[in-house]
Amino acid sequence: MKNKSKLHPTALVIFGASGDLNWRKLVPALYDLFLDDMLPEKISIIGVYRKAITGKDWRKHLQDGVRQFARHKVVDNARWEEFFTHFVECQAGDVTDPDAFRILAETINEQGKEMGELFEVVFYLATPPAVVGDIVHNLGQAGLTKDPQHSRLVFEKPFGYDQRSAHELNMSLLKTLTESQIYRIDHYLGKETVQNILAFRFANTLFEPIWDRRYIDHVQITVAETLGVEHRGGYYEHAGALRDMIQNHLMQILTLVAMESPVAFTADEILARKVDVLRAIRPIPAEKVHLYAARGQYGSGWLQGKQVPAYRNESDIDPISNTETFAAMKLFIDNWRWHGVPFYMRTGKRMPQDISKVIIQFRPVPHRSFPASAAIDWQPNRLEIDLHPDEGISLSFMAKQPGVMLQLSPKQMDFRYAEAFKTDPPEAYETLLMDVIEGDATLFMRADQVECAWQVVDPVLEVWNSVEASDFPNYPSGSWGPESAEALIARDGRSWL
Ligand code: BG6
Repeated sequence: MKNKSKLHPTALVIFGASGDLNWRKLVPALYDLFLDDMLPEKISIIGVYRKAITGKDWRKHLQDGVRQFARHKVVDNARWEEFFTHFVECQAGDVTDPDAFRILAETINEQGKEMGELFEVVFYLATPPAVVGDIVHNLGQAGLTKDPQHSRLVFEKPFGYDQRSAHELNMSLLKTLTESQIYRIDHYLGKETVQNILAFRFANTLFEPIWDRRYIDHVQITVAETLGVEHRGGYYEHAGALRDMIQNHLMQILTLVAMESPVAFTADEILARKVDVLRAIRPIPAEKVHLYAARGQYGSGWLQGKQVPAYRNESDIDPISNTETFAAMKLFIDNWRWHGVPFYMRTGKRMPQDISKVIIQFRPVPHRSFPASAAIDWQPNRLEIDLHPDEGISLSFMAKQPGVMLQLSPKQMDFRYAEAFKTDPPEAYETLLMDVIEGDATLFMRADQVECAWQVVDPVLEVWNSVEASDFPNYPSGSWGPESAEALIARDGRSWL
């Protein structure tokens, strides 16, 4: 539990303050934290803008985002006004221009004087990747990041577009910053249910002894979205599902499922155990990519009663685009715990449902003592971790049906967050903003972790970039992806669950 009284006065500087992320995620999260009395008492939220926008328009725009996206649904005007007193507008001009940082430094100093004490400065880069290098360089030149104890920078993805570019980016950041100042966000790590994977595994004795190749047949990780590319064509065309989702979010989930127990619940310990997993993933040779990965792109179709266009007909998309909106992969982790256990991952846009789920499929019993007639539907134990929606955990097991006949069937033990805790969990961005204000890097990504994750997907990216997908679009909107994804798992005698 965070302790507000321990929080220092903070200047939170948001680059990209007129952007979508600030409007949709950051300000609503800050507002929720404010209402829950979690923010430091002294906090200045400095929005950095290129052009002047009048205070009134800014306020209205931000309030509109809060109304739509904050967890606290009713916006009380008095509380909103109080919240807004923490906001400061900084019209700095072009962030590639060192002069802009003189203006920013003055604004930060003024706020610092008002806060009257030693204060923390958090720079949140909610900007396109193209300007990140300039911002970091200019912040350094202006002396704004020279105190590693009291200044931190938050980076959004994409963090590079392959292992080499991620490495170059890391190296260039380290010219000005120390690693402990760099907070690389993967918002999945801020999700309650994702964090709960660690609690489930390491705060209970029951599952850890069977959490390995002796008892687990395979693992499936699915993150399916009904959304299409929406208004993000410009970004998505250069990303695709593998870069956008698998390299970061799904890989994070995989590491939490597969990591060894940390000696202590500290950032360095947990990050080290996660990197161990990534380093143990068996590299996929270029000539075998088709056996380990499948790609898809949505065509038009029907979803939730509405007709939706094909990816190639969405705005800012090339009409002959080769970008995948669906990706599936099979991975092996070459260590003692996981030797021979396949991890299947899939993610896609325009799927029939919004679902994020991990399935741990246990092996069948070694010997069936019951007569064959006792169970028509004999199902090995299965643990399902529902990350979204209807967050929870369920374990299926075989049970005897009541009655004089011996009949067995699979049943479920079910735990649902909403019922068990009767409370509204914070949004991922609330947790992550609080952590960075406090200086806790446990839920952020370290340089080597990001690079290792790129190393896993790079061979697939290379093949997919060099060989066009001749069958795109290969799945209709509202379906579970292309046939090649079914084939990927069917070849092993299994199916997506
Ligand atoms: C983002 C991706 O990181 O995660 C989006 O860029 C995706 O394409 C989103 O829609 C999914 O996040 P969530 O929290 O809605 O599951």
